[in-house]
Formats: sequence, C-alpha cells, structure tokens
Amino acid sequence: MKIIGVLTSGGDSAGMNAAIRAVVRTALTYNLSVFGIKRGYEGLIEDDILEMDYDSVSGILSRGGTILYSARSKEFLKPEGRKKAIKNVRRRGIDGLVVIGGDGSFQGAHKLYEEYGIPLVGIPGTIDNDIGGTEYTIGYDTACNIALEALDKIRDTAQSHGRVFLVEVMGKHAGYIALETGIASGAEVILIPEVTTDVDAVARKLSGGIKKGWRSAIVVVAEGDDAGGAFKISKKLKEKIGRDIWVTILGHIQRGGVPSAVDRINASRLGVAAVDMLVSGQTDIMVGIVSGRVVSTSLSKTWTQKKGVDADLIRIAKLLSS
Ligand code: F6P
Repeated sequence: MKIIGVLTSGGDSAGMNAAIRAVVRTALTYNLSVFGIKRGYEGLIEDDILEMDYDSVSGILSRGGTILYSARSKEFLKPEGRKKAIKNVRRRGIDGLVVIGGDGSFQGAHKLYEEYGIPLVGIPGTIDNDIGGTEYTIGYDTACNIALEALDKIRDTAQSHGRVFLVEVMGKHAGYIALETGIASGAEVILIPEVTTDVDAVARKLSGGIKKGWRSAIVVVAEGDDAGGAFKISKKLKEKIGRDIWVTILGHIQRGGVPSAVDRINASRLGVAAVDMLVSGQTDIMVGIVSGRVVSTSLSKTWTQKKGVDADLIRIAKLLSS
C-alpha cells in the first residue's frame, strides 16, 4: 500500500476533523501518501481530490464541521456513479480508502468494495449514534452537550413563566440524543422513534403533573418520532390538555460547533486505528469503540445489526420523571 484516500460523507459531525488529522498523520508515519477527497463520494466521482501533508491538518482539532466538506451523494448510489468514482481512485493510484460517515456512507463503501475490491475501513461519524458495532460515533457527545445546554436554558424560562415546552432534537431514525439529553435535563417526557408514542398518555401525564404542582414541563421529541415532529405533537397536546404549548426546534446547531474533549479524543483514536488496520490488510470493516476499547466490525453489520436504544435508559427516564 502506497497511497490512501480519506473522505467524510453524510451529515457532518463535530470531531470529524480530529479523525481526518489522525488519519493523515498516521498514514504519513507509515510513509504513505494521503489524498483528501472533498465533498464525500461527490468528490470521488468528480475527482475533487488534493494531496495532504502534516501541515494541512494543523489547527483543525477545535474546528467543527469537516475541512474536507461533506455531501449525501445520490449519484454514488448508482453503479454508474461508482464506476466513475473507481476510475479516479485508480487514476490517482489510491490503494486504500478511509470513509468517515454514517451507515448510508458505509453502505456505499461496502458496494465499492464488493464491486471493485478496493480496501477500505470506515470510521463512525454521525451525531445520531445509531451505528451497529460501536457504542460511540463521532459528534454524538458534542451534539448532546449542545442540546443539553439549550434544554437547561429552556428550563429556566419555562420555570419562570410556568410553561410547557416541546423541544425537538435531531434524530430522524434514532432516539439517542433525545433519550440521553432528556434524562440529563430532567425532561418530564421523552419521545423517540424506537418507542410508539401514545399522545393521550403524554397528555394525561402532563395534566396530572401540572395538577400535582409541576411549575414547568419539558417534552423532548426526536425529530423522527412516529407521532410527528414537535409542532404536530404540540397541536394535538394543546387540544387535549387545554393550555398553550411552546415549541423549540434545535435543528442543525446540534451538528456544528467546537468538538467536545470526548469527540476529539475518540476521533483521534479511531483515525489512528483505521490506518493501522488498513495497513495490516484488514478491509470492509469499521473501527468502533465498545466498552472503552477500539474494536472492528464487518461493515455490513453496521447497518444490519442496529443496536437499538438501551432498555435500561428508557426505564431510568420513566422512573425519574414520574
Ligand atoms: O447526520 C444525522 C442527521 O443530523 C440526523 O439527525 C438528521 O435527521 C439528518 O442528519 C438531517 O440531515 P440533513 O442535514 O441532510 O437535512
């Protein structure tokens, strides 16, 4: 192996830069050349590729986003798109790829491996923390801290005015951010896609709580909840409990910003491990963290063996807010 490529794909997440830095610097210590591929698979298809050196990753640890930019490439989902991409891979002499992204990005990587045999290793980068084979994904910790800070602020004003708030956090298919920030902020109700929402039961809980003296109430809603987003649920709840409900959508602020210490450190560990594994001949795998240790898992398991939410956390959330 002489040249490796690195790209970030899918939704960006804080800490991706630490992973890029680790990949580049580890590869250089193996005397490999490193190409940075811009805009994920789009850049691979369009040959938007630049050589990186030690200095090109200086001063990026504290920066949110990804210096390589990211995209959700529709073209790469098609065989013709991947054919264009592999042409550039070969023309550039890239003989190993590190893909930093979520399960959609890994599905694309796996296809590229199956069709063309290009060695590759994935690094989990998504704020959703919804990838099989790892307890940690880059950016999740930062996103939770951002959401938590917002929830604490909302609690202050909700408490002052005696209001009920619905706060929507990210997670189209995953309730991790909602569940953990809900527990950490003492939310009265947490609604996640993995658990069917019974709006009548939520209304009963809120009305009962208000009757027994709750001054404020916060319902944390994952954006992909089966009952709809926060606005939709708030309309139904308002009718049922007969009082106004305030809605805050946190949105993309959860994806940007200065990466937390946890994200910088784990992203660095995973970046180093990804290159170590690529160099030692392992491929079609993702590096992840389980019980504090770096592990690898076959790429296909990252989306076929979704971890689901922790039943214990759901119990804790209910227990502490009743
Ligand atoms: O990256 C994951 C995620 O932030 C999800 O939580 C969210 O549903 C989705 O991306 C939003 O994606 P986009 O920014 O492309 O609309």
